[in-house]
Amino acid sequence: MPPVQVSKICCIGAGYVGGPTCAVIAFKCPHISVTIVDLNQARIDAWNSSDFKLPIYEPGLVDVVKHARGRNLFFSTDVDKAIQEADLIFVSVNTPTKKSGVGAGFAADLNYVELATRRIAAVAHSSKIVVEKSTVPCRTAESMRTILEANSRPGCRFDILSNPEFLAEGTAIEDLLAPDRVLIGSLQTPDGLNACESLANVYANWVPKERVLTVGLWSSELSKLAANAMLAQRISSINALSAICEATGANIDEVAHAIGFDSRIGPKFLRASVGFGGSCFQKDILNLVYLSESLHLPQVAAYWRQVVEMNEYQKSRFSKTVVDTLFNTITGKHIAVLGFAFKADTGDTRESPAISLVRDFLSERAYVTIYDPQVEEAQIWLDLSEACPLVPLETIKKQVTIASSALDACKNMEAVVIATEWKEFREINWDSVYKNMNKPAFVFDGRMLVDADALRAIGFKVKVIGRGERV
Ligand code: UDX
Ligand code: ADP
Repeated sequence: MPPVQVSKICCIGAGYVGGPTCAVIAFKCPHISVTIVDLNQARIDAWNSSDFKLPIYEPGLVDVVKHARGRNLFFSTDVDKAIQEADLIFVSVNTPTKKSGVGAGFAADLNYVELATRRIAAVAHSSKIVVEKSTVPCRTAESMRTILEANSRPGCRFDILSNPEFLAEGTAIEDLLAPDRVLIGSLQTPDGLNACESLANVYANWVPKERVLTVGLWSSELSKLAANAMLAQRISSINALSAICEATGANIDEVAHAIGFDSRIGPKFLRASVGFGGSCFQKDILNLVYLSESLHLPQVAAYWRQVVEMNEYQKSRFSKTVVDTLFNTITGKHIAVLGFAFKADTGDTRESPAISLVRDFLSERAYVTIYDPQVEEAQIWLDLSEACPLVPLETIKKQVTIASSALDACKNMEAVVIATEWKEFREINWDSVYKNMNKPAFVFDGRMLVDADALRAIGFKVKVIGRGERV
């Protein structure tokens, strides 16, 4: 049998991965009808909203959706219908770290993947290619295959592929339009290879052939965890070095620049910061740790665990610098936190280092004012409630204010903390900020964003991550 020509795609999960990915597929493949489904009615309504107030902020996404929505891109809560009509189904549901039970704190919660898979088995009348898009531990595809085979109707066959997504938030559309690579894992059987070719043909509409890598199912699953672990490891390595810089008077920017010139190392992903956040790095490394432990490889588990531990250290080291510098106490002091998203150009706050910083400041009984250009107020309250489970939200609200601009946030503060590298923070009028702050006025830059000398000339006391003052 020749490979199926895909004409209808269904994507289960309209989140940060499924939404942009399948919107770009629809944009690039006008001959394929793409329906993105989700159980969350509010999310789907936002994707369908007439004013294009989409549920996620991602530069360039609105244009892609404007182009394709209603033409060959549809958003719906009718999961069953979309499954039934599709020849290829992406499973792009959330896979958070388990909060309870076996593997709590490390293993992935595969409940959503399993429910989506069971739904496919329950309602499909015809054969499907089922593509695992969510980040999942190794061998999840095998479990999906078992569920599908055990529950399918006669005459329905399911081919499982793993097609991990490598987009980064904030640059998702660029990443999807010109990916470094597309990875497709399949069983190395004739049917598996055929299914792989069907999906590769979809990407062939805009991705050069040599960038589509086809591998075994388990290599594909592991590659996703490995790529994120290696990227996060670079950040933890540079952050570990930033601590040495601060203690010795070296400058982490100069060190990163120097080492990045080695073509074997390369310059990317060497930006010291207050710590990495996002929905993937920590989760995927903890998955790798759990997998290593399950495979009786404790040294491997300990190695990767250290990447996450270094990240925790970096966040708490930064909080401690703030406290130490403000004369060893921030009780009753006023601190502006600029940026709450885990990186610039996204409204996503999952694992954002800003959450840890604010939690630390609150536990020292400081007053905190937060400003972020994209994060919704309700999200900030939710994140802080989760970060401080023993403190009632009303108490948190007495200590925290949410401002509507960076200038407003800094008024009457003792210190400003930069937690996210939003472009607009590079353009802040620091003269005005200084005039309206209590003195001495401090700036703590967790993103190496300000011109420290210019700020010092205004009168600020400045601490930048990775920059020592002693020579
Ligand atoms: C990451 C991977 O890059 C992507 O390939 C994968 O599909 C999902 O996980 P994402 O988490 O969206 O993407 O953003 P990324 O740009 O990787 O940043 C993650 C975190 O690391 C952010 O908090 C960012 O600020 C931080 N970071 C990144 C640094 O601190 N220094 C750097 O040099 C790069
Ligand atoms: P990611 O960042 O991996 O895309 P998100 O949490 O942003 O994760 O998105 C996952 C989406 O999947 C959510 O909108 C959630 O409502 C949806 N979802 C989870 N389980 C199902 C399911 N069984 N059927 C349809 N949608 C689902």
